[in-house]
Amino acid sequence: MNSIISNIQNRHDISIEELRFILSTDDEAFIDNLRSAAREAADAVYGKRIFMRGLIELSSHCKNDCLYCGLRRSNSTAVRYRLTDDEIYECCEEGYSLGFRTFVMQGGEDGWFDDKRMCRIVSTVRGNYPDCAITLSLGERSRESYQALYDAGANRYLLRHETASPEHYAQLHPAEMSWKNRMECLKNLKEIGYQVGCGFMVGSPYQTVETIFADLQFIRSFQPHMVGIGPFISAHDTPFADFKNGSVGTTLRLLSIIRLLHPHVLLPATTALGTLHPKGRERGILHGANVVMPNLSPRKHRKDYSIYDNKICTGEESAECRACVEQRIRKIGYETVVDRGDYSPAC
Ligand code: 5AD
Ligand code: FES
Repeated sequence: MNSIISNIQNRHDISIEELRFILSTDDEAFIDNLRSAAREAADAVYGKRIFMRGLIELSSHCKNDCLYCGLRRSNSTAVRYRLTDDEIYECCEEGYSLGFRTFVMQGGEDGWFDDKRMCRIVSTVRGNYPDCAITLSLGERSRESYQALYDAGANRYLLRHETASPEHYAQLHPAEMSWKNRMECLKNLKEIGYQVGCGFMVGSPYQTVETIFADLQFIRSFQPHMVGIGPFISAHDTPFADFKNGSVGTTLRLLSIIRLLHPHVLLPATTALGTLHPKGRERGILHGANVVMPNLSPRKHRKDYSIYDNKICTGEESAECRACVEQRIRKIGYETVVDRGDYSPAC
């Protein structure tokens, strides 16, 4: 059975039968071998170093209506806010003094943050912190917009593909949203020169082994620099409020598989994983993740960036989150690094 693990490792590929086996087995020794192979693969590229990204949540407004998301436009109970330019700069200043060298500016698809405003913000942050990486996660925009933001100084872009199956995509999104456009956005981002992150939720409604297999094949062919995966967590007042949460165990197995398929990838232990299990992020790291993203958003707005229910880190100050993450990581024998933490390409 352990030949399955070495097969994946050597071929950087997985068959659907191997995936089906890994996701369904209750053989704990096998899963532990998978975990340690993945962790060794991460150690071989990045060592015991875990990169930290400071997350700044710009806006809880969103023009989209994704069925799973608490910030969907039809959710009239969601509290909407936008950070001002100055609030964003204050977050960066605090983040910089706490040792962050990557700022991740994330938000719903909010027309307020048009190209003019967003380019102004990006070029100001770029000018203030030439030694930092700027990551954007602002959803689907035109190629011209991505180009303008890149020219203004952004380096990386996170846009989860959500699912590589067009049929599954249509079950998760309203008809006005297009799988093709999402794929086009990812392709554009890569061509422009961004370090790009894709990803998907684990245990989203209607997900199957086949759709996960398609996700892994997509990751293999797209060769992203980053892959963000976390469990689906139901959000109240959304059409998926009554669906059950994704499984922590399945998420961990998939983190290990992704690490073995793509040893150099930047792989976060996500907040969603930490939300479903008190040691979720630590377990994510032990299964092959090598990035954590503590929250730098102003505390008064934290609880309102409510993509799913019971999100962690909504009551803490940025410094507390940063210290908490560092301590958690140290406890499991790893160290957080003050570094841009760029993708390390295969030699
Ligand atoms: N549970 C877990 N993850 C979610 N996301 C959106 N809604 C949820 C949810 N209910 C993820 C999506 C999106 C990212 C910003 O958050 O994958 O791309
Ligand atoms: Fe935010 Fe622990 S990481 S409180």
